[in-house]
Amino acid sequence: MKIAVVIYSYTGNSFSIGQKIVRFLESQNHEAQLIRVNVTDDQPSKTDVQLGDIESVAPFDKVIFGSPVRAFSLAPAMVKYLKQVESLSGKTVSCFVTKQLPFSWTGGTSALKKMISLCAEKGAVIDKTAIINWSNNDRDRMIDDFISKI
Ligand SMILES: Cc1cc2nc3c(=O)[nH]c(=O)nc-3n(C[C@H](O)[C@H](O)[C@H](O)COP(=O)(O)O)c2cc1C
Repeated sequence: MKIAVVIYSYTGNSFSIGQKIVRFLESQNHEAQLIRVNVTDDQPSKTDVQLGDIESVAPFDKVIFGSPVRAFSLAPAMVKYLKQVESLSGKTVSCFVTKQLPFSWTGGTSALKKMISLCAEKGAVIDKTAIINWSNNDRDRMIDDFISKI
């Protein structure tokens, strides 16, 4: 299967999960490609970000999206990316978000919900999802658990 792993990441947490996913998929003999969302003017607190070229996901059967939570919401760069990306019709999509704050009301659920609804608007069939709390001692197990399901 041809699988794209599309990640927006500023400090590298979400990207490191993307790298781990690609290694896993390749070990399962899938053709996996890691695509980093290109933001030309990225700053952590900026909400009106500009994206560079958007790589096409048309050739892929399945897409996995990953992004950090920002200010209790999905990172603006991923919102913008998912609004601009081509149709995801007929593709199976898995999504994850990373976050830092330990409490359940600190943005993970709403960021993930936003990601799912933007993908669904593009026609995707939503599959596995995960919220990875970076400060949780059990982080590596949560990441491995998500990866084993996709
Ligand atoms: C400007 C800013 C806002 C953030 N807002 C939240 C938040 O609302 N909730 C949360 O749990 N983490 C928040 N974080 C932490 C990031 O979501 C977390 O560190 C994430 O793993 C970073 O991912 P990245 O390394 O892929 O960029 C915020 C970080 C930044 C820089």
